[in-house]
Amino acid sequence: MAIILDGKKLRDKIFEELKTKINKMPQKPSLAVILAGNDPSSRIYVNNKKKTAEKLGINSIVIEYPSDVSQNELLKKIEELNNDENITAILVQLPLPEHIDKNTVIDAISPQKDVDGLTSYNSGKLFAGEKPYVYPCTPKGILLLLDEYNIEIEGKHAVVIGRSNLVGKPVSQMLLNRNATVTICHSKTKNLSDITKTADILISAVGKNVVGEKFIKNNCVVVDVGIFRDENGKLRGDVEFNEVSKSASYISPVPGGVGPMTIASLMLNTAELFNRSQISF
Ligand code: GUN
Repeated sequence: MAIILDGKKLRDKIFEELKTKINKMPQKPSLAVILAGNDPSSRIYVNNKKKTAEKLGINSIVIEYPSDVSQNELLKKIEELNNDENITAILVQLPLPEHIDKNTVIDAISPQKDVDGLTSYNSGKLFAGEKPYVYPCTPKGILLLLDEYNIEIEGKHAVVIGRSNLVGKPVSQMLLNRNATVTICHSKTKNLSDITKTADILISAVGKNVVGEKFIKNNCVVVDVGIFRDENGKLRGDVEFNEVSKSASYISPVPGGVGPMTIASLMLNTAELFNRSQISF
């Protein structure tokens, strides 16, 4: 039976330490979140981020816009936040309404305040094997979780299903930077299970039920990034947990695995950006 990669437990441990550190800071870090449109999941995520930030002593402001907001209005707000020395970190909640070019909006964020690590500057650093100001939250959370359980990465075959800018691409690069051999699979990949069966570490970030027991070899480490509601309204991930946990060595549950680690990373990133801002000015 697989050992559970317990994201809630690690999140709580991180928060305990972070709260003490934030208490000692000369002023409270501030996280600004831009929420445009009325995607119901985004609203839940943003409320959760705000509540968590406040519990840890981080100021949090949420700036909401209707779904017909213009791109220029978002760009103007980002410029204002970039220039506001009381703002430590800026997050633009994704997805944005369709008429808005998300890359333009994200790239308007100053790299020093880019708490998601998604700007061209920060992702460029990551993909060049250099240090960005901060790493994207979900990939960072996944690596923290693997490290907490002392799972070896170097020399292992890591298979990532999904190639999004938020998860698939950056987590692949972070694993590569740690000397894993990385294969990226996606919706056009042929014979997916032939590839996943060779994985020592399998990371699934699809948002659909794709990974069953026939997809993994014995003792594989399985990280489930997907989260969605099935037809009965039950929260679930990409992985058939009950089947796969019989032969995996480690497995992250949904909920309680990667989700709590994403939010832990967001708070860690906010604190890191604050510390860096104190040094450079
Ligand atoms: N939407 C879903 N996950 C994320 C995330 O990690 N960051 C942002 N900005 N938007 C998201």
